[in-house]
Amino acid sequence: MFAYQDFEGANTSRSRHRNVILVRVLVCVLVGLAGLGVGVVIWYYKGKNDDNPSCKDPDRPFSKAAVAADSEKCSEIGRDILQKGGSAVDAAIAALLCTSIINPQSAGIGGGVIFTVMDSSGKVKIINSRETVPRNVNSDLLKSCPKTTEWSMEWTQERSWIGVPGEIRGYEAAHRLYGKLKWAELFKPTIKLAREGFPIPYYQGQHIPRINNTSIRELYLDKNGNLLKTGDTVKFEKLADTLETIANEGPDAFYNGTIAKDLISDIQKAGGNLTLQDLASYQANVTDAWNITLGDYRMYFPPPPSGGAILSLILNIMKGYKMNSEPNATDEKILFYHRYIEALKIANGLKKHISDPNFSSDEFTQMAKNLTEDSFADNIRNLISSEKTHDPQYYGDTLHLDSIGTTHVSVLAEDGSAVSVTSSINDEFGSKILSPSTGIILNNQLSDFCGRANSFSPGERPPSNMAPSVLKSQSKTLVIGGSGAEMIPPAVASVLMNHLWFGKSLKEAIDTPVVHVDSQSEVKLEPKLEKDVVDGLEAKGHKIAKFYNTVNAVEKAGSCISAWSDERKKGKAAGY
Ligand SMILES: *[C@@H]1O[C@H](CO)[C@@H](O)[C@H](O)[C@H]1NC(C)=O
Ligand SMILES: *[C@@H]1O[C@H](CO)[C@@H](O)[C@H](O)[C@H]1NC(C)=O
Ligand SMILES: *[C@@H]1O[C@H](CO)[C@@H](O)[C@H](O)[C@H]1NC(C)=O
Ligand SMILES: *[C@@H]1O[C@H](CO)[C@@H](O)[C@H](O)[C@H]1NC(C)=O
Ligand SMILES: *[C@@H]1O[C@H](CO)[C@@H](O)[C@H](O)[C@H]1NC(C)=O
Ligand SMILES: *[C@@H]1O[C@H](CO)[C@@H](O)[C@H](O)[C@H]1NC(C)=O
Ligand SMILES: *[C@@H]1O[C@H](CO)[C@@H](O)[C@H](O)[C@H]1NC(C)=O
Ligand SMILES: *[C@@H]1O[C@H](CO)[C@@H](O)[C@H](O)[C@H]1NC(C)=O
Repeated sequence: MFAYQDFEGANTSRSRHRNVILVRVLVCVLVGLAGLGVGVVIWYYKGKNDDNPSCKDPDRPFSKAAVAADSEKCSEIGRDILQKGGSAVDAAIAALLCTSIINPQSAGIGGGVIFTVMDSSGKVKIINSRETVPRNVNSDLLKSCPKTTEWSMEWTQERSWIGVPGEIRGYEAAHRLYGKLKWAELFKPTIKLAREGFPIPYYQGQHIPRINNTSIRELYLDKNGNLLKTGDTVKFEKLADTLETIANEGPDAFYNGTIAKDLISDIQKAGGNLTLQDLASYQANVTDAWNITLGDYRMYFPPPPSGGAILSLILNIMKGYKMNSEPNATDEKILFYHRYIEALKIANGLKKHISDPNFSSDEFTQMAKNLTEDSFADNIRNLISSEKTHDPQYYGDTLHLDSIGTTHVSVLAEDGSAVSVTSSINDEFGSKILSPSTGIILNNQLSDFCGRANSFSPGERPPSNMAPSVLKSQSKTLVIGGSGAEMIPPAVASVLMNHLWFGKSLKEAIDTPVVHVDSQSEVKLEPKLEKDVVDGLEAKGHKIAKFYNTVNAVEKAGSCISAWSDERKKGKAAGY
């Protein structure tokens, strides 16, 4: 503006005219350049300030990466590993190790694990290191499966149900394929925490009174021989030593070294039949994922013996009803839930098709594959009447047990790679047998055969409900999975329907009360009362139907990331 006027006052009218044009051009160019400059500066700072650029929405606060484990502490340990340059797999392993002391009733190195890993190019692999049947198993074991679904301490305490632990071989395979940090780095935060001790978190504390008569009790005694409770400091020093040995000597220490010897000796003293040979011959299985199409997404999940095929069947049935908003009128809701419950009943009846492919005929495994096909779901949908439900026999379900000891971790790393991993020792505190010389809590995973199979073979992996999944579209990644045994497929399906189809935020979708159909075809509705109130009522001796489903998920859509751990387990995600 100043330059323009200055020139205007100078020359002849012609040259002035020419000058005016020249100046106008010049000004345009300058303004243009200035604009470009501002643009470049904004772009530069946006790039530089990526730590928290426009991710101000409390629903999706992270811009680079996130971890959703079932406790805040373990989510943070996973996040710290990512920030140190660790891969999604590194973070997942560190978060799982942490969970083995923050929620030792749910998971640990005496159990098994199934990973679904998507690398940064979008390629997906499954690592299955679920427990296996030991060689010297009592072949009549399944005759002692319980006759009711009632949870029974006496029954679950049985040493006969201990499977050969696969957890550490699974970490090893995952780390070998995808690890960036050193193996020992992943163990450090948990070793420190286990040694120094920490206040017992609420959720762990809830489970302690229930193990008073078991060998787990040793972990929770104060100086006067009383049981510790929520808020008291607990240390896991034996386990810290064991983790340190595995960190320094590698996985073989667990499978064919000093820890193997101590562990087997403890199991045999407790009356179990696992041998050194069972441990030494344990192998993880790395395979391709199965997948289905869900709108714009491809959903990847593990093949049998995982429950991924059951989850995909439920979703494939429901997607055919083409709902793209939440049912709001009462009659719409009734119809939606009716169809969903029918889908769950049918899915329960088809669980018998899920078993370890290494011990099944190809035809049998193909049947499980068929469950994931759209055409199969279309046929099922045609069988669902909008009018009424059927007698339980119609769905052909068999009795199976509800167990509660499982955990899930979802991780999304900066490079777009993702891990969805579910780990378990089966029931709360597994077999409730502690190996005193190693601090390891042993699983009772073999009871997962109950109601699902009439026989099994040494080396076989029991059928599972675990369904760690990764959904990928052109612009979005959703990492999701859950814990809660039979409730895993319905709970994960419910979150996906509420989020992807009904437009709820990830958090709202996770918070939505779940509907569950038990193995007797009885429909169970999650109470709307707060979890603490329900727990409090139970503490007063009321018998309350259990809802122990949890879903932990991470989603990247656009440039911001949302990550939620289930409030039902007082979880919290972490990211940056
Ligand atoms: C251990 O093996 C023996 C011999 O096969 C069998 O009789 C016993 O029931 C087994 N014990 C357990 C706990 O599985
Ligand atoms: C645990 O068992 C001991 C001995 O059997 C008993 O004295 C104590 O009251 C029990 N504690 C709880 C919390 O049940
Ligand atoms: C522990 O065992 C004692 C005696 O056998 C019994 O009275 C008590 O109820 C049991 N406690 C638990 C928590 O199961
Ligand atoms: C176990 O360790 C021994 C000695 O360290 C070695 O000879 C053997 O090959 C190992 N076995 C397995 C299955 O790794
Ligand atoms: C999805 O699964 C089918 C087999 O059912 C396979 O042929 C295909 O390659 C898979 N797609 C992806 C993207 O992995
Ligand atoms: C349900 O939602 C649709 C659109 O989303 C709306 O047209 C309809 O009026 C709503 N019905 C009720 C009962 O709120
Ligand atoms: C590994 O998993 C694949 C796919 O589920 C299965 O076909 C194969 O039999 C398994 N192999 C072993 C050795 O368990
Ligand atoms: C697969 O099954 C065969 C027997 O059918 C068994 O020898 C082998 O160990 C199994 N592999 C794994 C990894 O479980």
